[in-house]
Amino acid sequence: MAEQPSDAFIFFGATGDLAFKQIFPALRGLIRDEGMDVPIIGVAKAGWSLEQFRERAKDSLDHHGGADPDTLRKLLGMLRYVDGDYADPATFVRLRQELGATQRPLHYLAIPPNLFATVVERLAASGCAANGRVVVEKPFGHDLASALELNVILHRCFPEEAIFRIDHYLGKEPVQNILYTRFSNPIFEPIWNRTYVRSIQITMAESIGVRDRGRFYDGAGAVRDVVQNHLLQVLAVLTMDPPTGEHSEAVRDEKVRLLKAVRPIAAGDIVRGQYAGYRSVPGVSPDSTTETFVAARLYIDTWRWADVPVYLRAGKKMPLTATEVWVEFGRPPRETFGEGVRSNSGHMRMRISPDIEIALGLRVKQPGERMVGKDVELILTRRGAADLPPYQRLLGDALHGISQLFAREDFVEAQWRVVAPILGDVAPLHSYEAHTWGPQEAARLMGPDGVWLNPAPPAQAQAHDIANVP
Ligand code: BG6
Repeated sequence: MAEQPSDAFIFFGATGDLAFKQIFPALRGLIRDEGMDVPIIGVAKAGWSLEQFRERAKDSLDHHGGADPDTLRKLLGMLRYVDGDYADPATFVRLRQELGATQRPLHYLAIPPNLFATVVERLAASGCAANGRVVVEKPFGHDLASALELNVILHRCFPEEAIFRIDHYLGKEPVQNILYTRFSNPIFEPIWNRTYVRSIQITMAESIGVRDRGRFYDGAGAVRDVVQNHLLQVLAVLTMDPPTGEHSEAVRDEKVRLLKAVRPIAAGDIVRGQYAGYRSVPGVSPDSTTETFVAARLYIDTWRWADVPVYLRAGKKMPLTATEVWVEFGRPPRETFGEGVRSNSGHMRMRISPDIEIALGLRVKQPGERMVGKDVELILTRRGAADLPPYQRLLGDALHGISQLFAREDFVEAQWRVVAPILGDVAPLHSYEAHTWGPQEAARLMGPDGVWLNPAPPAQAQAHDIANVP
């Protein structure tokens, strides 16, 4: 079963936001680029007709890059729609009818997690789950206990290899490129450890606020929304050991091993912030203490990484939108050229979004009589944006039963263990002005000579000194 492609794609929450923004555009890509040709069945309770549903698909594509006439015709022809309440067994009887002779459905739950149990149980009871796969959107639980509970519910109807937990960061080309670059170039492995690496920083900055997601976000906060999942996924590919053997779980095994070695983050090792004006966002409680910014310091208890501080930072209403990783290498053990105290050392910089870069930062001598240098970057790769949108890649993989880019049960549980001590009001909340780099207090997490490295805007990033270009 594992290798056989699914022969129907069903998505719950078909009239919702995620479908509009991500799923229809991903389906367009799969039809256009990979010849996807299976019934696509939307399920929702909106009182819509199939015609209205098709209009929604067209509207979605109009807003997200359009579609050539042939692809659009095919997509509209493949669409089916089942309208009904998720709690009503009759909805699933109709779904079963729509599935017809198909035998290996892929069910995508683009719905709030409190509906997962109902839908999964109804899928099983109606026979719609048989030989099927299920894709589950984040957030995967609210904490460790609820994630464990959710796993029990899913496992009642689907084996682990048929469960695909989406973290769209794993579908991002530059995240895959971190893994690729590390393990295709043996020069990195000898320096990728505590002997040569001084610290690691991962920043996920977003200039937007919480927009129309106030209600959801206020119940989540930055730690649950992006640190527990996206940032820990990036950390895992950045710091894991090389995968061993050829088996398909080799990468996920190493990532889990790494994450299990991450010490749960201490409440004293975080700084929480909330942007001014957040409390008046619709859906947000007027006295909310939810963080829209968090800076954290963590440690990985392995021989490779012992005592190397890892700094994570995520925030809304930052000065710009960018996700970037800095691996800071050690400084020279003594000054040879009397240039004074160096504020920075060599580094590897991996820019994940909005543009993509991998750069190696070094110091070279400035031409002239004096032994004075400057910091330069050798750009290993640079692209405006990824060609393959994460959702297209991930849904394509799920349809083919390829699970490497999905979060396995033990990984999700390890993620919750890492953030367990920092969920909720465990540290003071500091206010910060919109479009700043968060509360000043974040600086205290750094050692005496450490600084947060703020990602530059794309245009400025291009202006770095480049050693390999004359
Ligand atoms: C989502 C979060 O998972 O990721 C959002 O819920 C966030 O709050 C988004 O804005 C960021 O994704 P990307 O791909 O734009 O970096």
